[in-house]
Amino acid sequence: MSELHSLLTFPDRPISKNYYVPKLEHFLKSGIPATYTLEQVAAFEREERNKSEGKPEESKPEESSGDDKTSNTTPLHVLARSLPLDINDEELQVVLEMMNILFEYGAGWNFIDYEDKTVGDLLLERQQNRESPLYRRLVEAGVSAELLLRKLNGGDVEFLDTDEPENNDPEETIQRAFESKEQEPVVSYNEDDDATAANQQVYLQTKLEYRDEALITKDNKDGVMMDWETKIMEIASKTLFPNPGATNSATVLNIGFGMGIIDTFIQAQNPHRHYICEAHPDVLAKIREDGWYEKDNVVILEGRWQDTLNQLLDEGEVFFDGIYYDTFSEHYQDMLDLYDVIVGLIKPDGVFSFFNGLGADRSLCYDVYKKIVEIDVGNYGMICDYTTYSLDEQLPDWNDVKRSYFNCNYYYHPRIAFA
Ligand SMILES: C[S@@+](CC[C@H](N)C(=O)[O-])C[C@H]1O[C@@H](n2cnc3c(N)ncnc32)[C@H](O)[C@@H]1O
Repeated sequence: MSELHSLLTFPDRPISKNYYVPKLEHFLKSGIPATYTLEQVAAFEREERNKSEGKPEESKPEESSGDDKTSNTTPLHVLARSLPLDINDEELQVVLEMMNILFEYGAGWNFIDYEDKTVGDLLLERQQNRESPLYRRLVEAGVSAELLLRKLNGGDVEFLDTDEPENNDPEETIQRAFESKEQEPVVSYNEDDDATAANQQVYLQTKLEYRDEALITKDNKDGVMMDWETKIMEIASKTLFPNPGATNSATVLNIGFGMGIIDTFIQAQNPHRHYICEAHPDVLAKIREDGWYEKDNVVILEGRWQDTLNQLLDEGEVFFDGIYYDTFSEHYQDMLDLYDVIVGLIKPDGVFSFFNGLGADRSLCYDVYKKIVEIDVGNYGMICDYTTYSLDEQLPDWNDVKRSYFNCNYYYHPRIAFA
């Protein structure tokens, strides 16, 4: 362990500004990177040992950093893991200042340590909750990094990824992530295996299989939709009717039929018009087989929303009280494009909601994207209110599908409307 890492284990209590801040600043000013990992320290020590024993240099030292090549245990991880459980408010302020300094010097917020944990996971373990100043500071750093990266990319969204172990440049560590059901950061993302989830063209040509409890891709066994989400769909369907007393005069749109769970809830409220937009041929066949085309109040928009909704916009005849979005194999960039369409199709008092799996395989990423959506829809004069629901009883064990796409045991249900 380096002196920097040692300092962050809080050897001296109480944690005082006078003791810790100048020392931390000294180490960082002297050139120790704020992203210096325990794995790099171990690699350095190994090299030194080899040198002193006259052994040949390792061929690729940067790839053999530490025992676990896939982890990056950063100074922030050491700080979070060492946070005293009996920390008082004054000490907390000092630690917050230390976090600020580390971020100022380029500390990354989304690295995964040797225990496969983010700094956020560790803070939560050390009895900081998601509202605590330290956790909030971390989320803030994630939001800033993501928005900055978008600017640097000329508006294109790059995605969070915690899967770049050798990369210690905080800007570059924020990578592609929203690659499977509804845009979540994929920690063990493999492009070949997951082309279906990542690439819409591939997905639309992939055969699907309906099972009792799920809709999956035939070859890859990727979960497109699963019935554990039924409760979420029920809650969402209610949100779509901003005037609950007048559901039968409402016109609603659901983008992405899947298993038709939300559409069944929507139908139960007997809306005036119920539009369903669906792109996959196998799902469209299921919609036909199950008689949705025969329902008087149902209109099926066949094709990708990118095509069918723009046509509705051009026609300018239909406006919606409620719009729901839940697709597969799309990215957050698609959602940004969708916002443009939503504001044109929704009534002034209408409501937009979506299946919120953004970043949901890591609570830290889930919180970062919770904020990013607020900011993005805010640019259209819309407000995103979240209601948090516990998912303890709903979440599946993920045995039957290849990848879990939701690992938080709570759900942020978004309700978006004009301010
Ligand atoms: C997760 S499922 C929707 C589940 C649905 N909410 C339910 O309650 O069963 C996603 C659906 O979106 C469809 N889809 C994916 N991309 C689409 C696009 N660009 N336009 C329209 N539908 C799309 C998929 O074929 C799939 O049927």
